[in-house]
Amino acid sequence: MKQYFAPGRVNLIGEHLDYNGGLVLPAALTIGVTATFIPRNDNRIVLRSATHSFSKEVSLDDEIVFDAKNDWTNYPLGIIAQLLKENHSVPACEIVYESNLPEGSGLSSSAAVEVLTAYALLSQAESNVNLVWLANFCKQVENDFIGVKCGIMDQYAVALGKKDHALLLDCNKVRHEYIPFELGDYKLMVMNTMKPRSLIHSKYNERKSECEAALHIIQTTKSEIENLCEADMFWLDVLTDEVLRKRARHVISENLRVKEAAKVLEWNDLSTFGRLMNASHTSLKNDYEVTGIELDTLAETAQEQKGCLGARMTGAGFGGCAIAIVHQSAVEEFKNKVQEKYLLVTGLHCEIYETQIGDGVHQIN
Ligand code: GLA
Repeated sequence: MKQYFAPGRVNLIGEHLDYNGGLVLPAALTIGVTATFIPRNDNRIVLRSATHSFSKEVSLDDEIVFDAKNDWTNYPLGIIAQLLKENHSVPACEIVYESNLPEGSGLSSSAAVEVLTAYALLSQAESNVNLVWLANFCKQVENDFIGVKCGIMDQYAVALGKKDHALLLDCNKVRHEYIPFELGDYKLMVMNTMKPRSLIHSKYNERKSECEAALHIIQTTKSEIENLCEADMFWLDVLTDEVLRKRARHVISENLRVKEAAKVLEWNDLSTFGRLMNASHTSLKNDYEVTGIELDTLAETAQEQKGCLGARMTGAGFGGCAIAIVHQSAVEEFKNKVQEKYLLVTGLHCEIYETQIGDGVHQIN
């Protein structure tokens, strides 16, 4: 019996840039999903969860296809199907998943399950799984099997995250560097809207199409660029459609913010980093329009609190979580004030956690 762990992630800054060929700055968390791998002597795979009652058993000879009825097991099933299609050896086994990530919170539990499953299965035959390959492989499964046209950020952060470091990922070149993320007297807080994200997949794919449309129009005059993050703010006049112009403006300005954020982090200038987080949220609210009342209330209330350097939504948006950097002496008051205001505005109770930055996928015993 072997055990493996894959973390959840937050994105510190650089939102909706991965599928636009830009820079992102995610970090893996110390919370995530654990898989217990138990070999079997037949040709079957059993997928179970300690947190969900739904389980699934398949034969390695079956054709595995996406089916909404398969619930959470679609993620590991997609991985198994693709590994088989690419002729990897997939061992018969039972895998039991246990997660301590808050459910549906946008902290990438799906990427964690994908990366974890692929890593656990491949580790049985290979001593060194190539993690960059693994991230790309899992992203492809999410795109093709699950049908979410996501970029590479989540799977990459889950696979290659590093304790106490942010991962500066160039999504065009698919190359990363680690930047120390040392908070000193500050804490990284995650604020969960507790709002179910029902329309997220269609809205996400809609934003991606809008960016593609904006890129095509810009390319009619600037044929040299291959992705929206290479565009210049001065070129936006060619976008006569107000919506497309706003989407492109977010993408271009956010990419500049990530560059600056990476620079100020090298100097440990957390105050400037916090201001960039605030600006990122405003852009996601007004130009990219992926926040909504819940995320805006959390981020904007957080930004007003004593000891808070900055706050923004993290991940895809439309619900999910926001993050904030808060002085440790102010954490208790911060939680109370934000929860109180959030309840007043939305009628919902938000959960607020203090988090640590941890390592990417690994074996734990
Ligand atoms: C989701 C996707 C990522 C990324 C973010 C937004 O988490 O899975 O690929 O696009 O949204 O930055």
